[in-house]
Amino acid sequence: LSYRLVHTLSDAQVDDLMSLYTQEWWTDQRTREGVVDMLRHTSLILGLIDSNDRLVAFCRLVTDFVYRGTLYDVIVRDDLRGCGLGKQLLDALLDLPRVSAIEIIDLTCRPDKELLYAKWDWVTQRDGLLTMRRRRPGGA
Ligand SMILES: CC(C)(COP(=O)(O)OP(=O)(O)OC[C@H]1O[C@@H](n2cnc3c(N)ncnc32)[C@H](O)[C@@H]1OP(=O)(O)O)[C@@H](O)C(=O)NCCC(=O)NCCS
Repeated sequence: LSYRLVHTLSDAQVDDLMSLYTQEWWTDQRTREGVVDMLRHTSLILGLIDSNDRLVAFCRLVTDFVYRGTLYDVIVRDDLRGCGLGKQLLDALLDLPRVSAIEIIDLTCRPDKELLYAKWDWVTQRDGLLTMRRRRPGGA
Protein backbone atom coordinates (compact mmCIF):
# COMPACT_ATOMS: atom_id res chain seq x y z
CA LEU A 1 0.00 0.00 0.00
CA SER A 2 1.26 3.45 -0.77
CA TYR A 3 0.29 6.69 0.89
CA ARG A 4 0.53 10.25 -0.34
CA LEU A 5 1.86 13.19 1.67
CA VAL A 6 -0.25 16.31 1.99
CA HIS A 7 0.33 19.71 3.60
CA THR A 8 -3.31 20.84 3.62
CA LEU A 9 -6.50 18.99 4.51
CA SER A 10 -9.82 18.88 2.67
CA ASP A 11 -13.04 19.18 4.68
CA ALA A 12 -13.39 15.37 4.62
CA GLN A 13 -9.82 15.01 5.84
CA VAL A 14 -10.53 17.43 8.69
CA ASP A 15 -13.32 15.00 9.63
CA ASP A 16 -10.73 12.18 9.54
CA LEU A 17 -8.43 14.27 11.74
CA MET A 18 -11.28 14.71 14.25
CA SER A 19 -11.55 10.90 14.34
CA LEU A 20 -7.80 10.59 14.95
CA TYR A 21 -8.15 13.18 17.71
CA THR A 22 -10.94 11.28 19.46
CA GLN A 23 -8.49 8.34 19.79
CA GLU A 24 -5.97 10.22 21.93
CA TRP A 25 -6.11 11.46 25.50
CA TRP A 26 -4.59 14.88 24.84
CA THR A 27 -6.77 15.70 21.81
CA ASP A 28 -10.15 14.10 22.53
CA GLN A 29 -11.73 17.32 23.85
CA ARG A 30 -11.02 19.35 20.72
CA THR A 31 -13.89 20.84 18.71
CA ARG A 32 -14.01 20.99 14.91
CA GLU A 33 -14.22 24.78 15.08
CA GLY A 34 -11.08 24.94 17.22
CA VAL A 35 -9.24 22.46 15.03
CA VAL A 36 -10.04 24.39 11.83
CA ASP A 37 -8.73 27.57 13.47
CA MET A 38 -5.63 25.73 14.75
CA LEU A 39 -4.87 24.28 11.28
CA ARG A 40 -5.02 27.75 9.76
CA HIS A 41 -2.38 29.03 12.18
CA THR A 42 -0.07 26.01 12.31
CA SER A 43 3.30 26.52 10.58
CA LEU A 44 3.44 23.12 8.88
CA ILE A 45 0.99 20.25 8.61
CA LEU A 46 1.92 16.81 7.34
CA GLY A 47 -0.64 14.12 6.58
CA LEU A 48 -0.57 10.70 4.95
CA ILE A 49 -3.52 9.99 2.67
CA ASP A 50 -4.64 6.54 1.52
CA SER A 51 -5.88 5.60 -1.97
CA ASN A 52 -9.40 6.74 -1.00
CA ASP A 53 -8.11 10.17 0.03
CA ARG A 54 -8.67 9.41 3.70
CA LEU A 55 -6.26 10.86 6.26
CA VAL A 56 -4.53 7.96 8.05
CA ALA A 57 -1.61 9.70 9.77
CA PHE A 58 -0.93 13.24 10.88
CA CYS A 59 1.53 15.52 12.63
CA ARG A 60 2.08 19.23 12.86
CA LEU A 61 4.92 21.61 13.61
CA VAL A 62 4.71 25.06 15.17
CA THR A 63 7.92 26.87 14.31
CA ASP A 64 9.80 30.02 13.28
CA PHE A 65 11.71 27.87 10.70
CA VAL A 66 15.05 29.12 12.09
CA TYR A 67 15.66 28.58 15.81
CA ARG A 68 12.80 26.72 17.42
CA GLY A 69 9.97 24.38 16.60
CA THR A 70 7.63 22.11 18.51
CA LEU A 71 6.21 18.91 17.08
CA TYR A 72 2.63 18.11 18.06
CA ASP A 73 -0.09 15.53 17.51
CA VAL A 74 1.85 12.66 15.91
CA ILE A 75 -0.98 10.17 15.36
CA VAL A 76 -1.44 7.11 13.12
CA ARG A 77 -4.95 5.65 12.74
CA ASP A 78 -5.17 2.94 15.40
CA ASP A 79 -5.88 0.04 13.01
CA LEU A 80 -2.80 0.92 10.93
CA ARG A 81 -0.19 1.23 13.67
CA GLY A 82 2.98 -0.81 13.71
CA CYS A 83 3.31 -1.10 9.93
CA GLY A 84 5.61 1.80 9.19
CA LEU A 85 3.31 4.79 8.73
CA GLY A 86 4.73 6.63 11.73
CA LYS A 87 8.19 6.10 10.31
CA GLN A 88 7.10 7.31 6.87
CA LEU A 89 5.60 10.44 8.43
CA LEU A 90 8.61 11.36 10.58
CA ASP A 91 11.07 10.57 7.77
CA ALA A 92 9.09 12.83 5.43
CA LEU A 93 8.90 15.61 8.00
CA LEU A 94 12.61 15.64 8.77
CA ASP A 95 13.54 15.29 5.08
CA LEU A 96 11.95 18.65 4.33
CA PRO A 97 14.85 21.13 3.97
CA ARG A 98 12.96 23.87 5.81
CA VAL A 99 12.43 21.48 8.72
CA SER A 100 15.93 20.04 8.85
CA ALA A 101 17.20 23.65 8.95
CA ILE A 102 15.51 24.36 12.30
CA GLU A 103 18.05 24.52 15.13
CA ILE A 104 15.91 22.80 17.82
CA ILE A 105 12.65 20.86 17.53
CA ASP A 106 11.07 19.98 20.88
CA LEU A 107 8.34 17.50 21.64
CA THR A 108 6.57 16.19 24.72
CA CYS A 109 5.74 12.51 25.03
CA ARG A 110 5.02 9.75 27.48
CA PRO A 111 8.04 7.62 28.46
CA ASP A 112 6.92 4.70 26.27
CA LYS A 113 7.62 6.83 23.17
CA GLU A 114 11.15 7.82 24.19
CA LEU A 115 12.87 5.06 22.19
CA LEU A 116 10.71 5.68 19.15
CA TYR A 117 11.71 9.35 18.95
CA ALA A 118 15.31 8.46 19.73
CA LYS A 119 15.40 6.77 16.30
CA TRP A 120 15.11 10.26 14.83
CA ASP A 121 17.70 11.70 17.25
CA TRP A 122 15.40 13.26 19.80
CA VAL A 123 17.22 13.22 23.14
CA THR A 124 15.57 13.39 26.55
CA GLN A 125 16.85 16.52 28.31
CA ARG A 126 18.39 15.90 31.70
CA ASP A 127 19.80 19.37 32.21
CA GLY A 128 17.55 20.32 35.11
CA LEU A 129 15.52 22.77 33.06
CA LEU A 130 11.80 22.62 33.71
CA THR A 131 8.99 22.51 31.23
CA MET A 132 6.57 25.20 32.41
CA ARG A 133 3.04 25.52 31.15
CA ARG A 134 0.45 28.24 31.51
CA ARG A 135 -3.18 27.31 31.11
CA ARG A 136 -5.88 29.64 29.86
CA PRO A 137 -7.48 31.16 32.97
CA GLY A 138 -10.75 29.45 33.77
CA GLY A 139 -10.18 26.86 31.03
CA ALA A 140 -10.43 23.14 31.46
C1 LIG B 1 3.40 6.61 17.92
C2 LIG B 1 2.83 6.27 16.56
C3 LIG B 1 2.62 7.56 15.78
C4 LIG B 1 3.84 5.40 15.80
O1 LIG B 1 3.34 5.12 14.53
P1 LIG B 1 3.39 3.64 13.91
O2 LIG B 1 2.92 3.72 12.51
O3 LIG B 1 2.71 2.70 14.83
O4 LIG B 1 4.98 3.38 13.96
P2 LIG B 1 5.84 2.58 12.90
O5 LIG B 1 5.17 1.28 12.62
O6 LIG B 1 6.18 3.44 11.74
O7 LIG B 1 7.14 2.34 13.76
C5 LIG B 1 8.24 3.22 13.66
C6 LIG B 1 9.42 2.68 14.38
O8 LIG B 1 9.24 2.94 15.77
C7 LIG B 1 9.21 1.71 16.48
N1 LIG B 1 8.24 1.89 17.53
C8 LIG B 1 6.90 2.02 17.41
N2 LIG B 1 6.35 2.25 18.61
C9 LIG B 1 7.36 2.27 19.50
C10 LIG B 1 7.47 2.48 20.89
N3 LIG B 1 6.39 2.72 21.64
N4 LIG B 1 8.70 2.45 21.48
C11 LIG B 1 9.79 2.22 20.73
N5 LIG B 1 9.78 2.04 19.41
C12 LIG B 1 8.58 2.06 18.81
C13 LIG B 1 8.88 0.65 15.49
O9 LIG B 1 9.39 -0.60 15.88
C14 LIG B 1 9.57 1.19 14.26
O10 LIG B 1 10.96 0.95 14.33
P3 LIG B 1 11.75 0.31 13.08
O11 LIG B 1 11.52 1.26 11.95
O12 LIG B 1 13.16 0.28 13.57
O13 LIG B 1 11.10 -1.03 12.89
C15 LIG B 1 1.49 5.48 16.66
O14 LIG B 1 1.71 4.30 17.38
C16 LIG B 1 0.38 6.27 17.31
O15 LIG B 1 -0.38 6.96 16.63
N6 LIG B 1 0.24 6.19 18.66
C17 LIG B 1 -0.82 6.88 19.38
C18 LIG B 1 -0.61 8.36 19.40
C19 LIG B 1 0.66 8.74 20.15
O16 LIG B 1 0.85 8.37 21.29
N7 LIG B 1 1.51 9.54 19.47
C20 LIG B 1 2.75 10.03 20.02
C21 LIG B 1 2.51 11.31 20.70
S1 LIG B 1 3.96 11.96 21.47
